[in-house]
Amino acid sequence: MRVLGLPGDGIGKEVVGSAVDVLKEVASDIELDYALIGGCAYDTTGTPLPEETIDKVKKADAVLLGAVGGSKWDKLNHNLRPEAGLLKVRSHMKVFANLRPVRIFRSLLSASPLKEDIIDGVDLIIVRELTGGIYFGKPRGIEIKDGVYSGYNTLVYTTPEIERVARVAFELAKKRKKRLTSVDKANVLESSRLWRDTVDKIADDYPDIELNHMYVDNCAMQLIRDPKQFDVILTQNLFGDILSDEASMIAGSLGMLPSGSIGDGTGLYEPVHGSAPDISGTDMANPIGAILSAAMMLKYSFDMIELADKIEYAIESVLSRGIRTPDIAFGAKEIVGTKKMTEYIIDEIGGV
Ligand code: IPM
Ligand code: MG
Repeated sequence: MRVLGLPGDGIGKEVVGSAVDVLKEVASDIELDYALIGGCAYDTTGTPLPEETIDKVKKADAVLLGAVGGSKWDKLNHNLRPEAGLLKVRSHMKVFANLRPVRIFRSLLSASPLKEDIIDGVDLIIVRELTGGIYFGKPRGIEIKDGVYSGYNTLVYTTPEIERVARVAFELAKKRKKRLTSVDKANVLESSRLWRDTVDKIADDYPDIELNHMYVDNCAMQLIRDPKQFDVILTQNLFGDILSDEASMIAGSLGMLPSGSIGDGTGLYEPVHGSAPDISGTDMANPIGAILSAAMMLKYSFDMIELADKIEYAIESVLSRGIRTPDIAFGAKEIVGTKKMTEYIIDEIGGV
């Protein structure tokens, strides 16, 4: 099991450190290597995704990424920004399906800004298309046209791109509650019209899955009004980005959400949160999203489901003792930093 760590910027370094410590605890035969991505890669090599990193990605069985970005690099040209490094590595690895599970740890029910009876029992997963759509469509740019600046992007999806991610979502639904909600904006966008028709065609192969279509604006509202109605949510890149941040509030904090991106080969695992420059270096970051991402790696890349369960169980148990990072402090018995939270989780794993 060759795992490549790409800590990136800001709290990315801290939380990948935590996730790696947990991985070492449960799977001693993991071979680790590290490489640069994002702003720190730009600072040392002049590009946010250096060749050396790409070479190491090719050799890895799975990649664990922290986060990229920070105000220091905000003025850079689009291609040189830290985020460009992240998008390039996703595209290079062809990880077209990004799985973002949203589940509630019972002891965190009161940490969510939503009412407990609305969120109690939520267990949903967002399948976000990750290597297409408006993030990658061409043409794109900022130009002067007829004397005024014009900024433009292209939202395009092809049938094969929709089909392959839809199949991932249907297969997941098969192993879960057998409900799939495909989210689009088919009342306005042609790309969404094709999305909907294509998902309908794939549905013929999955007669036991209950499929419904929902407009994205309605979905944003339903996620707050009644999140329990959802099992698997399938959607395009941009909508998935937005809806997953929204859905993180069900789990109490963006710091709790893991993600795993899969395609034809090596998987890429990263917490949903960003680099949080405001708390970077203060040992305040919640490492749980990253640790749960490492658990997803064990599950999806290495088929080590029991070990993944063990990590989740340990997290549940530490939280139930009232041990919290500042972002989930509501009802805490003890507020701890990144390192201490990681130690508690590792101790708990050792004791299982
Ligand atoms: C995410 C992030 C990224 C995205 C950014 C950092 C480019 O928000 O993984 O959700 O938009 O995909
Ligand atoms: Mg995002």
